[in-house]
Amino acid sequence: MRAVRFHRHGGPEVLQLEEVAVPEPAAGQVLIEAEAIGANAIDAVLRRGGSPWDRPLPGTLTGDVVGRIVKLGPDTPPGVAVGQRVSALTVDAFADYAVADAAFLASIPDDADAGEASMMSLTAPLALRVLESGHIPAGGTVLIQSAAGTIGHLATQLARFYDPKTIIGTASSPQKLDFVRELGAEPVDISDPDWAAKVRALAPDGVDAVLDAVGGTVFEQGLELVKPLGRMVSYGAITTEVPAVPVLGLQLRILTGVSLYGWQQARPDEARADIAEVIRRWQTGELRPVVHATYPLTEVARIHETLDARANLGRLIAIP
Ligand SMILES: NC(=O)c1ccc[n+]([C@@H]2O[C@H](COP(=O)([O-])OP(=O)(O)OC[C@H]3O[C@@H](n4cnc5c(N)ncnc54)[C@H](OP(=O)(O)O)[C@@H]3O)[C@@H](O)[C@H]2O)c1
Repeated sequence: MRAVRFHRHGGPEVLQLEEVAVPEPAAGQVLIEAEAIGANAIDAVLRRGGSPWDRPLPGTLTGDVVGRIVKLGPDTPPGVAVGQRVSALTVDAFADYAVADAAFLASIPDDADAGEASMMSLTAPLALRVLESGHIPAGGTVLIQSAAGTIGHLATQLARFYDPKTIIGTASSPQKLDFVRELGAEPVDISDPDWAAKVRALAPDGVDAVLDAVGGTVFEQGLELVKPLGRMVSYGAITTEVPAVPVLGLQLRILTGVSLYGWQQARPDEARADIAEVIRRWQTGELRPVVHATYPLTEVARIHETLDARANLGRLIAIP
């Protein structure tokens, strides 16, 4: 089968489509024949190298694979069967086939769009969990960083189910700011050095929750915007600048971290309930996952050019 590999760190040109063996599903895993593969921005960071999370070379790309199960490994959970259409997060996703943990498969209706479906295994459940961790009170205010992005555009839509007074979404280009407005949030240009003052103008008493996966100074400025007893939810650091927080500086603010993997390990039943919940909202039309662009797998470098340019509105998809 074909699979994307990189043998050195660098720009999108280091991504190569190679012939490799079809993987064997291990215990508790399934093999999926890919119809569509959703990209994650962190893979552009891992491809460039020099981050705190570098992995051994040759590198593979993570992603959410949508397709049918073609083989079961030993000891898969009851109800998982060959022929089922699923979406699943996998660590070697940009390939014709991928193995995935059978415990957290998103079950995908036959007639559903494959690109949209790719957001039901990782991105939408994570968006939901990050919001839940924000404990947004009815009538409150939430600040969503990178609100036009893959996870961000879903969090921005799901935020309204908490009945907040104000949803504020940051983004860095006019197109993204328009998109954030269409999603129902007050857009704030994160490239404006005075962005925090713009948020303060919309929420003079501070915000009840900040959802941050940017890190660095954006995290620090966001933390300052949290009102007493409000929450800072950290779920990544795309800048590679992992926040270090002086605990005395927290005052009455509550800082919490979210890892989808950690949530799945700690609360597997609730993690599966999150997947079911986002699929339900998607199928009722309450949640509208947006595919920014679709490329053949052979053009995976174009996906990474878009990620490097921070130009995606919603998700980027590859088709094998
Ligand atoms: N905790 C978990 O379990 C978990 C799982 C998956 C992903 N994540 C994290 O979630 C975050 C979002 O992932 P995603 O795939 O949805 O990404 P994405 O939002 O589609 O893309 C990342 C966005 O971050 C913003 N950004 C700000 N500073 C940046 C920089 N220096 N370089 C690149 N982008 C920058 C950009 O938006 P603007 O240009 O609009 O600012 C960019 O479009 C990542 O930090 C990722 O590591 C966490």
